[in-house]
Amino acid sequence: MVPSRPDRRSAPVALVTGAATGLGLEIVRALAARGHRVWLSARTFRRAADAAAPLVAAGLAVEPLALDVADAASIAAAARVVEASGHGLDVLVNNAGVLLDEPHDALTVPLDVVRATLEVDLLGPWAVTQAFAPLLRGSRAPRVVNVSSTAGSLHDLAAGAAPDAWGPPAYCTAKAALNALTVLTARAFERGRGPRVLVNACCPGWLRTGMGGPAATLAAAEGADTPVWLATLPDDGPTGGFFSERQPYPW
Ligand SMILES: NC(=O)c1ccc[n+]([C@@H]2O[C@H](COP(=O)([O-])OP(=O)(O)OC[C@H]3O[C@@H](n4cnc5c(N)ncnc54)[C@H](OP(=O)(O)O)[C@@H]3O)[C@@H](O)[C@H]2O)c1
Repeated sequence: MVPSRPDRRSAPVALVTGAATGLGLEIVRALAARGHRVWLSARTFRRAADAAAPLVAAGLAVEPLALDVADAASIAAAARVVEASGHGLDVLVNNAGVLLDEPHDALTVPLDVVRATLEVDLLGPWAVTQAFAPLLRGSRAPRVVNVSSTAGSLHDLAAGAAPDAWGPPAYCTAKAALNALTVLTARAFERGRGPRVLVNACCPGWLRTGMGGPAATLAAAEGADTPVWLATLPDDGPTGGFFSERQPYPW
């Protein structure tokens, strides 16, 4: 059965980055199924449109959008498109990410790999959140979800207990910094007027995606659970937190 299309005038509007594949695509699918109107963004419009087509054919309110999180001009253009739609923005999911440095440790990883990782995994969400902050401030129930990783948990890294403690140094550093950015963004939004902007980070789990590989424990759709929960928190929900499986996770 084809689900009925939500009323586009009243449906909450969400934007997911890096959403042509993997976890991002599943977050789009889940939010759209819950009645959100969703911008499915990818580095190119063609990639976004190809990924959106089957969802649109299934009756979901999904719109493709070009958004390269490492390209300032692309981010600015995407913000203009969303603003021009006139529907505002209620939910931003910073999902796009890269893992480029697996065979290395902190002493051997080439710094150009570190820079490329930080560009997407840290500066990307930072720039995208800044660009869409004015639209989010206009929402009645604004939410920002930063897709991070337990690989960025300083608690785990210092304890040396988790497998991720031996993980890729650029990726771990970028996700630790993204967690810090999550707290700082939550505090920054608290300075403004209007509804609370709930800003949280999460780990989706180890997922069978291009990044997680085929041996991972969870399907991408299962990994969408915590990000979607954070994207749809009630108004009195948490902000400035880091979650895994809907539970607070040690920083
Ligand atoms: N998989 C896991 O086990 C796991 C665990 C913890 C956290 N995470 C996090 O979950 C998020 C999604 O990862 P995934 O597992 O779904 O991996 P994935 O399948 O590799 O998806 C990553 C997505 O990010 C996009 N992307 C990369 N650079 C981009 C850029 N400059 N601008 C816009 N999009 C860009 C990719 O687009 P292209 O296809 O065009 O490159 C791809 O669609 C990431 O933030 C990752 O760190 C994943």
